[in-house]
Amino acid sequence: MSQRPIYLDNHATTPVDKRVLEAMLPYFTEHFGNPSSINHLYGWEAEAAVKKSRETIANAINCTPEEIIFTSGATEANNLAIKGVAEAYFNQGQHIITVQTEHRAVLDPCQYLESLGFEITYLPVKKDGLIDLELLEKSIRTETILLSVMAANNEIGVLQPLKEIGEICQKYEVLFHSDAAQAMGKIPLDVQAMNIHLLSLTAHKVYGPKGIGALYIRRRDPRVNIAPQLHGGGQEKGIRSGTLYTPQIVGFGKAIELALAEIETENQRQKELRNRLQQQLLNLEGVHLNGHLTQRLPGNLNVSIEGIDGAALLLGLQGIVALSSGSACTSTTTKPSHVLKALGHSDKLAYASLRFGLGKFTTSQEIDTVGQQVINTIQSLRQANIN
Ligand SMILES: Cc1ncc(COP(=O)(O)O)c(C=O)c1O
Repeated sequence: MSQRPIYLDNHATTPVDKRVLEAMLPYFTEHFGNPSSINHLYGWEAEAAVKKSRETIANAINCTPEEIIFTSGATEANNLAIKGVAEAYFNQGQHIITVQTEHRAVLDPCQYLESLGFEITYLPVKKDGLIDLELLEKSIRTETILLSVMAANNEIGVLQPLKEIGEICQKYEVLFHSDAAQAMGKIPLDVQAMNIHLLSLTAHKVYGPKGIGALYIRRRDPRVNIAPQLHGGGQEKGIRSGTLYTPQIVGFGKAIELALAEIETENQRQKELRNRLQQQLLNLEGVHLNGHLTQRLPGNLNVSIEGIDGAALLLGLQGIVALSSGSACTSTTTKPSHVLKALGHSDKLAYASLRFGLGKFTTSQEIDTVGQQVINTIQSLRQANIN
């Protein structure tokens, strides 16, 4: 069998931790009951497992279990938060603030609301990818109902100042939603201390299974109203109908439990590896770091490389390393990344960018191999340009 490329695309998804899989398996076969079946043991077993996961997740972000609503992932959680608030608070105002560098799972629901007559402010970011808090404050109007700012960016890893943003939202009585798909299990999240009203989570970025996530919805000080987006059997307090996916929920809880237990050692280890790769690449002329130097996820490195063609670079690295480039492929087109464009990059430079996403299974040997191979590829492409 030919050797598989080194996996450095952990922002896209992560492998399921074997301990997570082990915890999940009995819930496919033995304990397969529907957690809503209240009349027999099968239902009680499933319900007990769901309860345990809900408590683990709630503890992880400092909320109560009742405030956790399971969804199919962060895309659904973001849609539920944004459209659900828009519909519920329609009479109080129709202005929403978000940021140009958000994930499409936030930007697209906002654009959809725009088509219904809502006004959306898309805040720019500074050169380092952070938002300008003064500008944020100035953008709030009496009819602003919601602010949506992600915790950690999925391309450049930048960590927005959630606590400061939360304070501004509290001052102006605006609801604060944050997409924490990339942040959960990697940075401390505390919805009380950060004054967050809605928080989107997903399992598959932290060694949990795909297809499961959650939305935290604050129930007091203030109680947040959400208009359901999926109607049906009334599960999850009627906010999100559909039979609960017990094995995935069990896996989500286990993944969070493991992530929190390992957070400090793993962050430190990944940061050291990341910094080593960063140093090697930035030593080359015309290689620039994207995003803030320190306010960043420990496993993230995103660089732009001058003087080369992005497509040729990716082609040169294929088979060596699995990573993402500065382009976003939709079903029909390949566009330069909107995040890198928001940093002020030209299309060409955005295309000639690489996102390295380190994870807990990344080894130092892999990082050294990748560093050397990326440098070789850049140098040979530049050489070919000269000749
Ligand atoms: C910041 C961010 N938000 C939302 C999502 C979507 O999450 P999910 O795949 O759970 O729907 C992702 C994953 O790509 C992400 O990185």
